[in-house]
Amino acid sequence: MPFSHLTHLSCTKCGKTYDPALLLNVCKEPGCAGSLFAEYELPRLSKTDVASRDRTIWRWHEVMPAKRPEDIITLGEGGTPLLHARRLGARLSMPDVWVKEEAGNPTGSFKARGLCAAVTMAKALGARAIALPTAGNAGGAAAAYAAKAGLPCHVFMPRDTPKVFRLECEAYGAQVTLVDGLIDDCGRIVALRKEAEGWFDVSTLKEPYRVEGKKTMGYELAEQFGWTLPDVILYPTGGGTGLIGMWKAFDEMERMGWIGSKRPRMISVQAEGCAPIPKALAEGKDVSVRFENAHTYASGLRVPKAYADYLVLKIVRASKGEAVTVSDDEMRRGVNELASSEGLYAAPEGGAAWEAVKKLLASGKLERTERVVVFDTGTGYKYVD
Ligand SMILES: Cc1ncc(COP(=O)(O)O)c(C=O)c1O
Repeated sequence: MPFSHLTHLSCTKCGKTYDPALLLNVCKEPGCAGSLFAEYELPRLSKTDVASRDRTIWRWHEVMPAKRPEDIITLGEGGTPLLHARRLGARLSMPDVWVKEEAGNPTGSFKARGLCAAVTMAKALGARAIALPTAGNAGGAAAAYAAKAGLPCHVFMPRDTPKVFRLECEAYGAQVTLVDGLIDDCGRIVALRKEAEGWFDVSTLKEPYRVEGKKTMGYELAEQFGWTLPDVILYPTGGGTGLIGMWKAFDEMERMGWIGSKRPRMISVQAEGCAPIPKALAEGKDVSVRFENAHTYASGLRVPKAYADYLVLKIVRASKGEAVTVSDDEMRRGVNELASSEGLYAAPEGGAAWEAVKKLLASGKLERTERVVVFDTGTGYKYVD
């Protein structure tokens, strides 16, 4: 059996297919520029075959893009705990609340999963250097994996991003540029300069493999729940890569006969100060409009318009999910509650996801007996300033 069953890339907008041996960003059809998905000839793989493998994102290697084990650039990402939040759940009379705790990943966030896959593929397909815009955590992860791969890394981040994000990127040897603007302004600079500089752009959903790394959260959840899926998943959404990736994973697992057709309601959680997805959902739109004057201390949620917003909105609707906004004060309270009741010093994004549980409950959109998963996507230690 081949190590990876990757067959081709396909455009999520127009369906055009591409050879995965090429180093590609987005669809090249005129006027399309859709995000590309990795497609596999799904193997006849038993889920028990996987059980004894190392607990990194590569334990699912048949449905991951690296063609050869020796291509993998790993720091031990993935295999994170799924923790029963008994004390917090009890406060709401909810016995079945869980936290998928992503802070233990290399560089302290779930961004390690996506950047591990992206850097692995960029290196294997011949990239000479990578570049990306970041709200913080993606930059640190990209820089770390680039260091391990021996690739130069150029990181563009808003000037007011917490200082530790810049320091860690520099420690990993990346070239950091601070930008007076938001993540989309950073993305525009990368797009403008990448050709002349010879950089491969690893902006999320503008290359095919970050979503592959992040989809492993969906595989892990199913495995950790004994090959069933929860009723509800709350996902703090910036670019939406993990939400999109998990939905893709659920589809792949169903096609391999690992799970049934039941899907969780996917809840996209954003900040009150930057809520393009809830706004588009409320207005019945298929794409979002750039959210002006975006502000929130959850830097990962300060994404005024996600590149693949059309996928996030489609999935939230298909799952009969919701989009919920949380204020910065509520996030701080969420962080404190996760810390003082569950021993988890969460990123504000994780605090937002926990607060969103209460909001859904208060609005009657959640049953107390439902099985709920809150994503704590990163460590709180990086947000001390
Ligand atoms: C801690 C944290 N949570 C959530 C997000 C949003 O992730 P995504 O872009 O997959 O929506 C980010 C992005 O920077 C982040 O750093």
